[in-house]
Amino acid sequence: MRVTIFGATGMLGKALVRLWTNDEVTALGSSHADIRSPDQVDRVVAESNPEWIVLSAAYTDVDGCEINPTLAAAVNTQGAVNVAKSAANSRAKFLFISTDYVFDGKNTTPYEANDPRRPINAYGKSKADAEQKILALLPDACVVRTSWLFGPGGKCFPDTILKLAATRPQIEVVNDQRGCPTYTFDLADAIIKLCHADAKGIVHGTNGGVCTWYDFAAETLRQAGSNTAVRPTTSDKFVRPAPRPSYSVLSDASLTAYGIKMRDWQDTLPDYLRERNAK
Ligand SMILES: NC(=O)c1ccc[n+]([C@@H]2O[C@H](COP(=O)([O-])OP(=O)(O)OC[C@H]3O[C@@H](n4cnc5c(N)ncnc54)[C@H](OP(=O)(O)O)[C@@H]3O)[C@@H](O)[C@H]2O)c1
Repeated sequence: MRVTIFGATGMLGKALVRLWTNDEVTALGSSHADIRSPDQVDRVVAESNPEWIVLSAAYTDVDGCEINPTLAAAVNTQGAVNVAKSAANSRAKFLFISTDYVFDGKNTTPYEANDPRRPINAYGKSKADAEQKILALLPDACVVRTSWLFGPGGKCFPDTILKLAATRPQIEVVNDQRGCPTYTFDLADAIIKLCHADAKGIVHGTNGGVCTWYDFAAETLRQAGSNTAVRPTTSDKFVRPAPRPSYSVLSDASLTAYGIKMRDWQDTLPDYLRERNAK
């Protein structure tokens, strides 16, 4: 199978490229093609002639998107549409990576794949708009929503916490947002399986378990053997440009329908810490 990955230089993209060894993979970063340019996208798609296109590329700075929603829409919505159109014209199957931030966080039970999108920030809106436009263009496309991604080779929450803990005896972390941390390699494995299963429609792909950022920090430091203390705090003490949903837990029903089960997030941390220490 020939696969073309946009966003291959990103945190998830690197895991996809490393794990996707049994197919012919073309790995693209923004220097190969800016997804805002339909001509550049069409050129690299024609050159690689893929059977599957995986779009992981995005402007992922949530606060940056809030400050510059025009850029968020240009990359995350119109850029995604450009790639979807190229997939349609070249008859490639299409898998788009989306986010838990398409939801408003008002649920108290896990979001199902067909729950209505109600983004509360510009990043979430740009991805929700992309989902809608992609599925209108390509009804058989697969949209994989994930959340709280972490892994080696990128700026991510546990890395930030470990760096802070290296210089401080105590850190404060918000304890009023709930979600599912997701290890890039576990998600990459699920994405490869979904492509091989010819997956269609919206699928939620996260590690198992639910936690707050405080829980995530405390467990990371515990497993890393750090002596730094973690204290819980609330989001109103850490005001940022973009509001975050307070609950963005994604149900795994759409993933288990494909026979795929992802392990609990705590069980992934030894792998993450080993990879991080190997650098
Ligand atoms: N990080 C999270 O917590 C999280 C949570 C939920 C969903 N997601 C989604 O998961 C996917 C992967 O996220 P990530 O954290 O791995 O991303 P990331 O590390 O920030 O990497 C972003 C990737 O997008 C590429 N890119 C950015 N602008 C581009 C443009 N205009 N044209 C072409 N490529 C461009 C970058 O290319 P260069 O580096 O070559 O410039 C890079 O490969 C994204 O779709 C994101 O929305 C992420």
